[in-house]
Amino acid sequence: MFDPQQFVADQTAEMRSVVGEERALVALSGGVDSAVVAALAHQAIGDQLISLFIDDGLMREDEGQMVVDAFAGVGMEVHIIDRADDFFAALAGISDPEEKRMAFRDTFYKTLGAAVRDNGATFLLQGTIAADVIETQRGVKTQHNILEQIGLDPGSYGLQMLEPLRELFKPEVRQVAAELGLPETICQRMPFPGPGLATRVVGEVTPERVATVRAATVIVEEELVELRPFQAFAVLLNDRATGLTDTKQREFGQIIVVRSVESEDAMTAVPTELSWNQLQRLQERICAEVPGVIKVLYDLTPKPPSTIEYI
Ligand code: XMP
Repeated sequence: MFDPQQFVADQTAEMRSVVGEERALVALSGGVDSAVVAALAHQAIGDQLISLFIDDGLMREDEGQMVVDAFAGVGMEVHIIDRADDFFAALAGISDPEEKRMAFRDTFYKTLGAAVRDNGATFLLQGTIAADVIETQRGVKTQHNILEQIGLDPGSYGLQMLEPLRELFKPEVRQVAAELGLPETICQRMPFPGPGLATRVVGEVTPERVATVRAATVIVEEELVELRPFQAFAVLLNDRATGLTDTKQREFGQIIVVRSVESEDAMTAVPTELSWNQLQRLQERICAEVPGVIKVLYDLTPKPPSTIEYI
């Protein structure tokens, strides 16, 4: 039986002994994994921890402020650094899913390497969990944070990694989050992938396309929050659908897919059973409130054969 209290005691002791008098840096994403690592490290090494929220332009609406506020509530200071231009420049012109992941990853670790150096830190703390490791081993997807498995040397980015959650699955991570006194907004937050909204834009990732999927994501979260799905989000497809304007002229518009899944550990998943009313409201709001969208689809595919994200 997993004992979150024991886990916190063991990991904080281990972290203190590894970090010693040095400094460590953690980048928060708004997800529960990185939040737990940050809170653990804060408990272990206090002011030797630097907590950053790197705004890569691929986050959900108001994510940075949510993270800053949530951590302020537990006495931790999080600094936001804006690096959106670097990420959009790295992703420009790329449509292939694996190439996108590679471009994201390279920019991400370069940014972190620079942040570690600028802050005089030695260690980078990461919220890698067991599912990330296993799925990368299986070759399902090169999760952005499993550097050594994809043949990258953290040292080449000037990084020494600490990954205290590597043995845990999501439900255990949530237990640790509660044990550490993290607020509900964080403990129960839906998983959000490292490469962020880039995994939810099929085709090229541009600021405009990300803005479209971000606006649709707000609506999906608002409409489905009460159902507490494991994960619910919007995806922007790379096609245009034919539609009609109010005056019955032909127009082309964007296609949004709504995906909501139930899962224990993200290794398998089934679609959430939504009512007709819920589906209809999603369609009506997304078409009415997100400029340029004229078609909304609901994804019925479990994992497998699909993965949860689209790239
Ligand atoms: P997939 O799409 O592989 O996702 O079924 C399984 C879980 O992992 C999340 N995910 C990621 N998380 N970096 C992450 O930190 C990634 O590159 C990444 N890709 C997917 C996804 O949101 C789901 O919860």
